[in-house]
Amino acid sequence: MRKKLLALATVGLLATVTMTACDDSDGSSDASSGNDGGGSGSGKARVGVIMPDTKSSQRWKTDDPKFLKAAFDAAGVPVEIQNAEGDRANFQKIGDQMINSGIKVLIIANLDSDSGKAVIENAKANKIPVIAYDRLIRNGGADYYVSFDNEKVGKYQAYGLINCIESKNIKNPVIAELNGSSTDNNASLFKAGYDSQLQPKYDSAEYTKGPDQSVPDWDNDEAGKIFEQMIQQQPKIDGVLAANDGLGNAVIEVLRKKGLAGKVPVTGQDATLQGLQNLLTGEQCVTIYKRIKPEADAAAGLAIKLFKGEKPSVTGQIKDPESGAYVPFVSLEPLQIDVTRVKDVVTDGFVTKKDLCAGKYAKLCTQYGVGVTPSASSDTADDK
Ligand code: GAL
Repeated sequence: MRKKLLALATVGLLATVTMTACDDSDGSSDASSGNDGGGSGSGKARVGVIMPDTKSSQRWKTDDPKFLKAAFDAAGVPVEIQNAEGDRANFQKIGDQMINSGIKVLIIANLDSDSGKAVIENAKANKIPVIAYDRLIRNGGADYYVSFDNEKVGKYQAYGLINCIESKNIKNPVIAELNGSSTDNNASLFKAGYDSQLQPKYDSAEYTKGPDQSVPDWDNDEAGKIFEQMIQQQPKIDGVLAANDGLGNAVIEVLRKKGLAGKVPVTGQDATLQGLQNLLTGEQCVTIYKRIKPEADAAAGLAIKLFKGEKPSVTGQIKDPESGAYVPFVSLEPLQIDVTRVKDVVTDGFVTKKDLCAGKYAKLCTQYGVGVTPSASSDTADDK
């Protein structure tokens, strides 16, 4: 199964970008990474990276910075990685400080299009190429965009919800939708994906559309309050399309208080530790595993070539929904994860068995084969 998981994801990476491997220069890397906030950057020629926040999803705090730094260190290219901590003004301040202190390439995962666009405009004025990382800046004019097929993310979330509704034999379910932040272009792509599967079911009255709201800044506490109000106003909610694991967990906490957790299917995204544990208990239905290392490697690969003054060629493109411009796009494959595939995320090394199977989760891990080394035959069998 691991070979299939890896093969599936790798095909996605190779199918849309033609780029040479990262540079093998043996220059030592004195990457100044970490959130020094002061943006001193030492004026050294380097790549600047700005992450959006540390709360909306575990990935921005740990996974993305870890994989990005490793890719630049391996290529001996200096990098400075900072996190805007969810503050738009701080995002712009970090961008300006990086641009004014010698960076040669900028990678940004924006908080909203306005602050992202302001940073891109300053970068362009200083002839610094910008890579939109994971989130497209609407009408921003980034030089490259590296992300997943985000509509496919949404479709997989809907498939997971539909599978659970069918396996629980829930008839004419009322579906609530808890969407990502309206300032995040990804959230609109996820929604386009899941609504493409749910809307026909609303239209045919197989499903009933329930409350549908976006969660500002993906804030998990806010998500809990919104869902609390939803279920108060509409007590009959039979399924929840939650746009990522953080929102999903906020919903599950409300459902637990009402004795409904595990009875009302809930979705998620990001294959976080919390999300995978909620899958094991049956309180969450599906998460979407977006292998962050290939995403970070793809962005770093582009940045390293740009850092060396070369122009990477990218075969994919995406239309900016606001400007109509086509942006060179490296699109990666997401993976739909239900409880039977939690073990594959552990095998892939994204979460450890030690963390996932702690305490009450140990017996559930055993039940679902987490950490059991697939035998060669079973692996081969899976590959058929
Ligand atoms: C999206 C991103 C997701 C998740 C979410 C919450 O833009 O694609 O992976 O992290 O933000 O931050």
